[in-house]
Amino acid sequence: MQQVNLGMIGGGTVGGGVFQAWRRNGSLLTSRLGVRINLLKIAVKAFDEPRKVEIPEALMTTDWRAVVEDPRVQLVAELAGGTTVAREMILTALRLGKPVVTANKALLSAHGEELFEAAKRHQTNLYYEASVAGGIPIIKALREGFVGNRITHLYGIVNGTCNYILSRMKAEGADFAEVLRDAQVQGYAEAEPSLDVDGFDSMHKIGILASLAHGFWIQPGSIHVEGIRRISRLDIQFAAQLGYTIKLLGIVKKTGPRIQVSVYPALIPDTHVLANVGGVFNAIFVRGDVVGDTLFYGRGAGQDATASAVLSDIADAALDLKFGTRHRIPPFVSHNPRGRVLPMARAVCRYYIRLDVVDRPGVLARIAAILGRARIGISSVIQPEGHEGRSVPLILMIHDAPNAVMTGALSRIAKLSAIKAAPVLLRVETFS
Ligand code: NDP
Ligand code: HSE
Repeated sequence: MQQVNLGMIGGGTVGGGVFQAWRRNGSLLTSRLGVRINLLKIAVKAFDEPRKVEIPEALMTTDWRAVVEDPRVQLVAELAGGTTVAREMILTALRLGKPVVTANKALLSAHGEELFEAAKRHQTNLYYEASVAGGIPIIKALREGFVGNRITHLYGIVNGTCNYILSRMKAEGADFAEVLRDAQVQGYAEAEPSLDVDGFDSMHKIGILASLAHGFWIQPGSIHVEGIRRISRLDIQFAAQLGYTIKLLGIVKKTGPRIQVSVYPALIPDTHVLANVGGVFNAIFVRGDVVGDTLFYGRGAGQDATASAVLSDIADAALDLKFGTRHRIPPFVSHNPRGRVLPMARAVCRYYIRLDVVDRPGVLARIAAILGRARIGISSVIQPEGHEGRSVPLILMIHDAPNAVMTGALSRIAKLSAIKAAPVLLRVETFS
C-alpha cells in the first residue's frame, strides 16, 4: 500500500484534534483512499505546554524547519496560526513542491494572493477547508460542487462567538456587555474579543469565500466591516416585534458588474432559515445561477469540527500525490482579473432606523421631509404611545436606498433639535 508522509506544525486545539482524529479514523482513511497517511512529525513551540490531547514526545520537535525541510515529509499541515512565521512555514513548504494544508484564515486573508501564486509557481497545492466555518465543507462545495455555477449570492453566519452572543441577547433580553462577560467566563469568547465581536474574523472568512466564488483575490481592506458591539437589547426587541432577528452576516452579492463583499449586523426575516441558526453554530446560504438556493450548517470551530476539515484536505493532498494529478480543480484559481468590489457607499439595501425623539407635533413631518428630499421611502413606522412631550423611540423601516444616500439623510436628521441621541442604523437583508 502506498504511503504519504505527513508533517504537522501545531499541536494545539486544531493540531491536537487532527492527531486524535487521525488516530481514531486513520485506518478508515486508508481504506477509502488507498493511501496510508503516516504522521511523521509534529512541531510545537514547547514540549512542556499543557495539551488537551496528549502527543507522544517521540513525534514532537520544536523546530518547524525540521518538519518542513525533512526530505521524507511529502505533505505539510500548518496549524500554528499567526501571520508572520506561518507565512514563512507555508512558503518554505511550497518552494519545496510540498502541498500544504492550512486552517489559517487570518494569513490567507492577508497574503492569500501571494500564497496561491507560490503554490502555482511550484506546481503544488494549498488547501484551506478548515479556514472557513470549521467542519462545514463549504470550500469544497464552492470549488467542486458548484464548479458549473455563477455564485450570485452568498450569506454567511461564520463567527460562532458573535452568533452565540446575539442568540443569548435575544433569548434573555440581555445587553451585549453582560452576555460577552459571561461568554468569556464560560470560554465561548476570547479574553480579547475584538477579532470576533468587531467582525474581523468574519471578514477573513467572507473574503476567502468571496475570492473563491468570484475568481479574484479580495483584499481585506476592500471589505466593509461592522461588528456587534453597538447592538442593543432595545434593537433586538424592536426587530423581533417587526418579525426580524439580528445576525452578524457576511454578504457576497453580485447584483451588477461589481461585487458587494461586506460584514455587518443585519435584520433578517424570522421566516428565513438563517434567522434560526442559533448558538455557536455557523451556516452559509449560497445561491448559484444553476443550482438555486442551498444551505450549509454546522459547527464553525472547535477541536473536532476543524479536525474533520483538515483531514478532508489531507486526503485530497494525499490523492494528488498518489496519482500525480495536482490540478483536478485547484484550490484557488484566479480567473477573473477584471473583478472589482463594490464600494459600500453604492450598495443598495433596506434599513431599520431607531431615533430617540421628543414626542411633539411636527417632528415626524420634518424627518419624513428629509427622507423624501433624498428620495428615500418609508415602509413602516413604530412609536410607542404615551410619551407626549418626552423622549421616545421612533422606529422607521426604510425601502431600498444606496448606503451613501441613507447615511447622508441620517446625518441631516441627527441635527434636528428633536433628536436626543445618535441615531441607530441597521441594514435589513431580505435575500431577494
Ligand atoms: P493553538 O494556539 O491552540 O495551537 C497552536 C499550535 O501551534 C500550538 O501547538 C503551538 O505550540 C504551535 N506553534 C505556534 N507557533 C509555533 C512555532 N513557531 N513553531 C512550532 N509550533 C508552533 O491554536 P489553534 O489550534 O486554535 O489554531 C491553529 C490555527 O487554526 C489558527 O490559524 C486558527 O485561526 C485556525 N483555526 C482554529 C479554530 C479553532 O477552533 N481553534 C477553528 C478554525 C481555524 P505549543 O503547543 O507548544 O504552544
Ligand atoms: N473565533 C471563531 C468563532 C472560531 O467564534 O467562530 C475560529 O474561527
